[in-house]
Amino acid sequence: MIDFECTPQVDLEFMNREHRKAFEDTNALKRLLDSALALRLESDMESEAAGDLGDEFGNEVEHKVEIKTSLPGSEEIEQLMQTLLLDTVRHFELEEQCMEGHSFPARAEHRLEHRRVLQWMEEEHSRWSRDCSIETINHLSLYAADKFPQWLLNHIVTMDTVMASYVHRHGGNSL
Ligand SMILES: [Fe+2]
Ligand SMILES: [Fe+2]
Repeated sequence: MIDFECTPQVDLEFMNREHRKAFEDTNALKRLLDSALALRLESDMESEAAGDLGDEFGNEVEHKVEIKTSLPGSEEIEQLMQTLLLDTVRHFELEEQCMEGHSFPARAEHRLEHRRVLQWMEEEHSRWSRDCSIETINHLSLYAADKFPQWLLNHIVTMDTVMASYVHRHGGNSL
């Protein structure tokens, strides 16, 4: 996980606010995924123990179906992924409007990178809609705690820093 306070700031305050929100969203998502994983492992262990008993009483299948359809915290995770997606759409829109308004020369490349990352985020989101398996929880955990924050940090210190500095020098205010 990356703490916004430990990341470099750019010259436009609205961008720093969006970046703070993005790190907060992904850190909250990682925490929810961690507790979902712990609960999932716990309920799977209980399921196995009950399965052993189930063999004796012939109700093993019924019990396993019940466990698989009820993952604790799955709705909260879905909501937070939706929040992250909407916040990211807004974050990119604001930057793109700003680049356009100040005719930033590299705006086409910057916009393309935003499109690519939004598509990646939508793919991760749809993975959660398909299943809530331990494998998916681990995959999304890596995305929320490492892959997306690392991309964002790299984007901030490269494209965003250059763009904010250009806009700031060309009369853009820092609001
Ligand atoms: Fe940004
Ligand atoms: Fe950007």
